[in-house]
Amino acid sequence: MYMYEGDTVSLRRLEPSDADIFFEYWNDYQLRKNFPNPFPRTLEDIQDFITSRNKSFAGRWVFTFGIEDTTNGALVGFIDLSNINWISRTAMIDNIVIFDKEKRGKGYGKEAMLLLLNFAFNIIGLHNVCLYVYRFNQHAIEFYKNFGFQIVGNLREAAYIDGKRDDTVIMDIIRSEFIDKYGHLPH
Ligand SMILES: CC(C)(COP(=O)(O)OP(=O)(O)OC[C@H]1O[C@@H](n2cnc3c(N)ncnc32)[C@H](O)[C@@H]1OP(=O)(O)O)[C@@H](O)C(=O)NCCC(=O)NCCS
Repeated sequence: MYMYEGDTVSLRRLEPSDADIFFEYWNDYQLRKNFPNPFPRTLEDIQDFITSRNKSFAGRWVFTFGIEDTTNGALVGFIDLSNINWISRTAMIDNIVIFDKEKRGKGYGKEAMLLLLNFAFNIIGLHNVCLYVYRFNQHAIEFYKNFGFQIVGNLREAAYIDGKRDDTVIMDIIRSEFIDKYGHLPH
């Protein structure tokens, strides 16, 4: 299986057999509320999601990777690059998730993001990667700033979560900022 390997995690293609672990965690509302689609999904929905993401990967429109723990091969989360524009060489990160909250804050997300940004800038040659994050998710905003993402915009009161309005913060990073900080990671 082709992977981008780090010290603690690897990025790999999703497999149909990953649906069970997605199903175990992906319906947790406390996790889902960080993303625009809070609706529950059936196992079949998740199987379709994996199939459709793999088709999009093959079509080079969306790159969705499983985040695998290199010590035991367990799938601990997933991360993606979507909205690829091959002319302007831009993309968006739609999802970064470490499934199990007990496994968050242990460095998995950081290494997965570095591998993904290295893929974006040094392997497929993108120029700008952006993302949307809700303002209440301060942990994620601080997490993104660590890599050099900057806040470049704010959609005022554009989110509705738990009965309250929140801003949607727009962040981005360009290739030169990543290269200045991290260079070209081995893979
Ligand atoms: C956001 C998420 C992917 C980060 O992954 P993670 O594995 O928990 O993060 P890491 O342990 O790799 O932390 C990396 C950095 O984030 C920062 N960080 C971690 N916990 C933090 C906290 N509670 N508050 C502020 N910063 C924190 C640290 O600066 C850390 O860098 P360091 O190693 O230099 O200290 C993960 O927490 C998650 O899945 N959250 C739920 C889903 C979500 O909100 N996704 C983003 C939607 S926009």
